[in-house]
Amino acid sequence: MKKHLPIIVLVVLILVGSYIVGHHVASQSKTNATQPAHSAPKTTTVQTPAQAPSFDKTQYSLSDPNSQWVVVDKQRPLNPVSYAPANLVIPSIPLRSNITSTEEYVRSETAAALKTMADAASAQGVTLNLQSGYRSYNFQVSLYNSYVASQGQAAADRSSARAGYSEHQTGWAADLGGTSNPSCNVAQCFADTAEGKWLATNANTYGFIIRYPEGKESVTGYEYEPWHVRYVGTALSQEMQKTGITTIEQFFGLPDAPTY
Ligand code: DAL
Ligand code: ZN
Repeated sequence: MKKHLPIIVLVVLILVGSYIVGHHVASQSKTNATQPAHSAPKTTTVQTPAQAPSFDKTQYSLSDPNSQWVVVDKQRPLNPVSYAPANLVIPSIPLRSNITSTEEYVRSETAAALKTMADAASAQGVTLNLQSGYRSYNFQVSLYNSYVASQGQAAADRSSARAGYSEHQTGWAADLGGTSNPSCNVAQCFADTAEGKWLATNANTYGFIIRYPEGKESVTGYEYEPWHVRYVGTALSQEMQKTGITTIEQFFGLPDAPTY
């Protein structure tokens, strides 16, 4: 028996070895059944990011006073200089108690947007009122002259446009005030009132821009007027907010207008 032991061990080893090899081959062929012999060549799709449509800066005229994008500043008088809008209406928003029969008007597009904005402010407990809307050429002559008489021409030119150069003559602009601190209406401290803060945050949503931002006198020609809003339509006001460009001169690449 002893002399057959190596043969028995050898046979056992051969049997065990062939079992292991057989089992391995079987499991390999099982795996292969679920996978193609050659995986399909990988196609690499290069995803180009969707291009945001670029803003069309030529949609409206920058020169025609009937255009919601007209740019009026010390370098760009109204054309014609005696222009008056044909569609002036009194907006359905609160008016300052002693408003003149000229300044209570704005053009109809501005009036509609003012109402939408004032209603939204009102729903949040903020009362915006109209201090000054449309001003005719002759009205602006008197207003500017009164500033020159009281402050001198240099100071007047920082806060008041000469006749023929005021956005108010287009009907697209409005000076807005509030009820929380009437002494700050049409004054720098309007920026610190509830109404001024609401306007600074929300005007762009409703198609308006703060036309004379803080620190931009060298561009616009006027000191900070947190109360003076200009209707330009929501496409432009929101684009300006998105891009962080706060003056229409800079947005459209127009020359700075610090002086006449
Ligand atoms: N206060 C602005 C600049 C105007 O007089 O039109
Ligand atoms: Zn104004």
